[in-house]
Amino acid sequence: MDQSAFYIKTFGCQMNERDSEIMAQTLAQHGSVETMEIEAADVIILNTCSIRAKAEQKVMSLLGSLRKLKKQKPGLTICVAGCVAQQEGQQLIDRMDHVDMVVGTQNIYKIDHLVNRSRESKVIAVDLDKNYTIPQFIPDFSIDNDKTDDTIVTNADFSRFVTIMQGCDNYCSYCVVPYTRGREISRNYNDIIDEVKTLVNQGVVEITLLGQNVNSYGRTNDVTQSGKKTNFADLLHGVAEINGLKRLRFTTSNPKDLSEELIRCFRDIDKLCPQFHLPVQSGSNRILKRMNRNYTVEKYLQLVEALRQNRPDICISTDMIIGFPGESDDDFQGTMDLLNQVEFNSSFSFKYSDRPGTRSADFTDKVDEEVKSKRLQQFQKRQDEISLEKNRGFSGKKMEILVTRNDDNGFTGRTVTNHLVHIESDCIRQPGEFVMVEITYGGPHSLKGKVI
Ligand code: 5AD
Ligand code: SF4
Repeated sequence: MDQSAFYIKTFGCQMNERDSEIMAQTLAQHGSVETMEIEAADVIILNTCSIRAKAEQKVMSLLGSLRKLKKQKPGLTICVAGCVAQQEGQQLIDRMDHVDMVVGTQNIYKIDHLVNRSRESKVIAVDLDKNYTIPQFIPDFSIDNDKTDDTIVTNADFSRFVTIMQGCDNYCSYCVVPYTRGREISRNYNDIIDEVKTLVNQGVVEITLLGQNVNSYGRTNDVTQSGKKTNFADLLHGVAEINGLKRLRFTTSNPKDLSEELIRCFRDIDKLCPQFHLPVQSGSNRILKRMNRNYTVEKYLQLVEALRQNRPDICISTDMIIGFPGESDDDFQGTMDLLNQVEFNSSFSFKYSDRPGTRSADFTDKVDEEVKSKRLQQFQKRQDEISLEKNRGFSGKKMEILVTRNDDNGFTGRTVTNHLVHIESDCIRQPGEFVMVEITYGGPHSLKGKVI
């Protein structure tokens, strides 16, 4: 039989991107080949996200359109993996009979075995195990898929995600994650160190530690190193000591678990990039309480202050939910005030949407769609102004960038603060190279610079 070809489309967060890499590697190790063309695939995997209603709609609409392809190609296997799979389970197949496999968030490591099983019957693997341990999974650079055509070096060759924990126990009232990713489980300390060492030995220079809630690493299940209990700050120190690693980042955080010890890491660990994504969600204490966030606006401002004291060049970004049930004009004004006070370098802002099974879905005082849209627009307009002002402030600064790709008229890279910089230049720089540049222009979403 010919080698079967698989195609993976990833929706949602970086956790999902990492999970897709794991599925791709597992399938490739068992003889399948990855293809970038959906029509050429024998197995199509949609690794899905259900964080907001819109994210789920995107998945559903692509799934709907695959019905035709399945008719033309009855041997095709369609797999829904990730958070929508976890959330919907059997119902997905009941509603869409062209779906062959539903694979939940803890079952991705068995993807090869599940694909084989699907040749006999429909597969539903969505159990969430409370005692789950994250399997050790070392990336394999030797696998050569036809994924990259003539690009020799991809970002994955020098910048990688490493999962350090799964799930979430916080139960923010709007959030589906505890239901789609299960309880919070931290990964073994030495497994993480081994994975990073392997990556660095292969030429990786930048690592992003991933989890829904990385600040509370080691909280729910004791993680030890040489018999001593460890936390996230210890892990950062441990990873930073690995020779050859140049840049260390992490995502994502909850302000309620941001310890002084972790804040000091920004002062003490040079490799830790001065960039922090710290979702605040609202600027109203009343709303934060209803969201079950367990911190106040005042506490958040103190954290920002402490971060800036410890690392003056730190760039802070956030997530904001606009129009949470019960959000009054005053509550929204609180959000605008917080934006103006902190002056986030950038932010992701979303209209609140109900998610199945969450507490806020049952709140009765929902905000009008129109009001939500107006507030979102107002928030984003002000954020754009602030981002532009901040980016203009980089003009004249000398910064090192890690080149991510070559363009027709130069190349593009990222600063330690995670700003994208376009460089106009005749000389070619390889992705993965570090280059010193001077910033010449700050735009709303990126910077321009020249080589010095
Ligand atoms: N509605 C709108 N936004 C949400 N987020 C999470 N759940 C919802 C919801 N029900 C946003 C939060 C979170 C980001 C990943 O998505 O801001 O930080
Ligand atoms: Fe989406 Fe959250 Fe699942 Fe990531 S963990 S894919 S953001 S629902």
